[in-house]
Amino acid sequence: MSASANTLPARVLVIGGSSGVGRRVVEELTARGSRCAIGYSTNDDAARTACEAAAARGIEPILAKGDMAKAAPELVRQAVEGLGGLDGLVITAVPVITGRALSLTAEQHERITGVLMWGLLDTVRSALPHFEASGGGVVVIVTSLGARLYTKYYGTLGPAKAAAEAYVRTLAAELGPRQVRINALAPCLIDDELHTSYSSSARDFLEPVARRTPLRRLAKPQDIANATIALLGSDLAFVTGQVIDVDGGYSLMG
Ligand SMILES: NC(=O)c1ccc[n+]([C@@H]2O[C@H](COP(=O)([O-])OP(=O)(O)OC[C@H]3O[C@@H](n4cnc5c(N)ncnc54)[C@H](OP(=O)(O)O)[C@@H]3O)[C@@H](O)[C@H]2O)c1
Repeated sequence: MSASANTLPARVLVIGGSSGVGRRVVEELTARGSRCAIGYSTNDDAARTACEAAAARGIEPILAKGDMAKAAPELVRQAVEGLGGLDGLVITAVPVITGRALSLTAEQHERITGVLMWGLLDTVRSALPHFEASGGGVVVIVTSLGARLYTKYYGTLGPAKAAAEAYVRTLAAELGPRQVRINALAPCLIDDELHTSYSSSARDFLEPVARRTPLRRLAKPQDIANATIALLGSDLAFVTGQVIDVDGGYSLMG
């Protein structure tokens, strides 16, 4: 029996590629020979730094700047122009708005659903003709366990993440006949600077979660990037419409 000839999409737009999980995804793709566009909305310095870090491992990515909630077609246009086409899309972007559901303002609601619902739909729709021109495409979005497990300060984002997962199932059914597959990854808490930058007592909150996790740690951005690479690969060409937990078993614990 011959070994697997897993292949990755050659040209990938990673919206959220300037930071955290998305930055790791860009680095991994670049190191494996894919060409990337780093999609981001505001932080030029972070985007340049991410670009340099990836360039040290492979072909230098291009930058695609724009708010996914308002300018998804423009983000896709920049990526297609810079890469000469598109056959992969990764979306990790999120507006960081934490709090209880009842605290949500209309303006925050618009920002959250703008990215996680309208932005997702509009980005995939804009990428579709370019995927079809490439003979197909693959999409991975990052959601969260908080889409289906109650988490105190995730009342603002959790319901919209759940809607994004519903879009994954709907779009997978609609896009399958066009040879485009789409899946989601749902991480548990990620051990990154986000939490510790918000609160000096974050460790008090994070450590019990790590202890309760069967694999006895939180996720690292690299764990989510590795799972993203796996879903983008041709070895998983028959997997679509799925939400896969990347959580060290946390969601098993009831
Ligand atoms: N951190 C956790 O504990 C955790 C747990 C579960 C799930 N997740 C999910 O994992 C994903 C990645 O999280 P992360 O911590 O790696 O994120 P992050 O470090 O905060 O990075 C967010 C990225 O998205 C970009 N972005 C934000 N809003 C955008 C918009 N409207 N249009 C275009 N780009 C936009 C940011 O660029 P700019 O800064 O330039 O806007 C940045 O590149 C998110 O979906 C998050 O919800 C995280």
